[in-house]
Amino acid sequence: MANKIYKIPSHIAIIMDGNGRWATKRGLPRNYGHREGVKAIERTIDACLKYGIRYCTFFAFSTENWKRSKEEIDGIFELLREYLRQNNDSFFEKGVKISYLGVIDPFPEDLKKALLDTMDKTKDFNKLEVNFAINYGGRDDIVRAVNNLIQNGYTKITESDLLNALDTKNLPEPDFVIRTSGEMRISNFLLYQMAYSELYFPKVLWPDFNKKYLLKALKVYQNRNRRFGGIK
Ligand code: FPP
Repeated sequence: MANKIYKIPSHIAIIMDGNGRWATKRGLPRNYGHREGVKAIERTIDACLKYGIRYCTFFAFSTENWKRSKEEIDGIFELLREYLRQNNDSFFEKGVKISYLGVIDPFPEDLKKALLDTMDKTKDFNKLEVNFAINYGGRDDIVRAVNNLIQNGYTKITESDLLNALDTKNLPEPDFVIRTSGEMRISNFLLYQMAYSELYFPKVLWPDFNKKYLLKALKVYQNRNRRFGGIK
């Protein structure tokens, strides 16, 4: 059957690009694009549950995004705040565990509290694990991990030591990385972790992403031949 998906990635990681362009095209402020982007997150979570994807990581705020206007940054924080407030029940109903990657220290106190509270309440759910990369940078992740290992007395490390010290220590490496909007860059996302990930760059702007686009992406994924450096 043409629509049958027989190879489901365990972990997909998404760079949600194109929110600003989506809004600008409509003569709207950029934050409208981010607001629509949250709806696309909700649709994607539902689609992940439908297709049996176990881990989904969204790049929501990078270490470089602090360069944006205060208005845009506050707008993104407010969306995260609203999202957590409005979805607590649905995480329960759907069995979704919420987690984050990155450093939340500089975030507003109430937002940190809301996030930690949601994490605590959802920690035993296992249908789908949703991770928000916030104030996250791949280089920063590696540097923090190495500093952590040094602090713990390591003078020489292995790849697995490093993998176990990264923010993603409790996650499998991403099988499939999607960046919307047609831009073909990694932008300091999960640098170490995506060594063998399949990459996919659909043209759709993030606010327009939906179940149909995820299905299309999964069809692309299942036709990829993952060799991990070996020979088929
Ligand atoms: C990239 O598009 C998008 C972001 C930097 C922010 C994404 C944040 C959200 C969707 C909201 C976060 C909320 C939750 C619930 C996690 P861009 O602004 O760089 O788009 P452009 O390249 O078209 O300007």
